[in-house]
Amino acid sequence: MNDIGRAAVVTGLGAWVPPTVLTNEELAGRLDTSDEWIRSRTGIRRRHVIAPGEATGDLAVEAGKRALKSAGASSADVVVVATSTPDHPCPATAPDVADRLGLTGAAAFDIAAVCTGFVYALGTAAGLIASGFAQSALVIGADTFSTILAPGDRTTRAIFGDGAGAVYLRAGSAAEPGALMGLHLGSDGSRRDLIEVRAGGSRQRSTGLPAEEADTYFTMAGRAVFSQAVRNMAASVRSTARLAGWDTEDVDRVVLHQANARILAAVADQIDLPADRFPSNIDRVGNTVAASIPLALADACAAGDVRPGQRVVLGGFGGGLTWGSVALVWPDVPAVGPDHAPGS
Ligand code: COA
Repeated sequence: MNDIGRAAVVTGLGAWVPPTVLTNEELAGRLDTSDEWIRSRTGIRRRHVIAPGEATGDLAVEAGKRALKSAGASSADVVVVATSTPDHPCPATAPDVADRLGLTGAAAFDIAAVCTGFVYALGTAAGLIASGFAQSALVIGADTFSTILAPGDRTTRAIFGDGAGAVYLRAGSAAEPGALMGLHLGSDGSRRDLIEVRAGGSRQRSTGLPAEEADTYFTMAGRAVFSQAVRNMAASVRSTARLAGWDTEDVDRVVLHQANARILAAVADQIDLPADRFPSNIDRVGNTVAASIPLALADACAAGDVRPGQRVVLGGFGGGLTWGSVALVWPDVPAVGPDHAPGS
């Protein structure tokens, strides 16, 4: 990560999804959609959703607990929660999550980069460690998009699910397995309107007028997002592999944000890698936004598809627009997930 050989090293991986499952058939009973449409256009069969009264922080605590257990750690200098569905507009969710994990006193803050949030959070925490300002960090991606989707919107309801995933980082050497080797982050704010919740922020509240109900929900321009996601994730994975000193064809596994099974296939095609190097759990969890990458990684590790020693690139794309990816040689780290899912 820097020229003196100090790096942030992944030593723990945890995942959590809430127990309540929402199948395509159940959605089709409420909305004008079908299991066949959802599966063929997205690859999704089911997703998990929180219960009334639950919040993103609850999922973040469960994933964080499991990442700490996986790492055998009981402290962290930094706790970062990547989320676009914080428990409250103010304060950030991370200090409460840190406190509930017994990490009171740690630097704790949220990062909002929508579906790229986990990669941005990982890069930020890794920078704090590589620079010597921190020795360890818990990086959590958690979102509950079920709380911001319009009840009657068949497109977004079909795609998103709730969940959380986390990794633990400690200071180590750039030569160790698990050391973050290449990082590439980018954005294009001129396309911010492709993915948004229009109301609820200062731009709407400063008008002094109540928000239109439709503006309080998440919207996206699916087609445009699809092509931007493919283009930017493909370019980012290539850049990150190069930064790590690898040829793209040497990358063993590309764990991408799980937005749509067809997006994964299109990225594989663009960078000329076989589709079986792209682990996917989208059929079981849908698009879990900032949780998506660590959840897919935990699933792939549990299934033996991501193995110690493999060259791995983690990549994301989301609202902002934002994109990014990071490279590492996968370390010998157990993935600690929920008992009930999403592995089955
Ligand atoms: N069930 C049935 N029909 C649906 C539907 C659903 N759940 N969702 C949309 N449709 C309809 C549309 O209303 C449209 O109908 P029309 O032709 O009568 O207007 C038709 O299906 C085609 O819609 P379109 O948006 O062109 O479909 P698509 O093939 O592009 O698939 C997405 C839509 C959203 C699945 C796809 O664009 C996508 O995955 N985009 C990326 C979104 C994403 O992952 N964003 C998160 C941030 S990374």
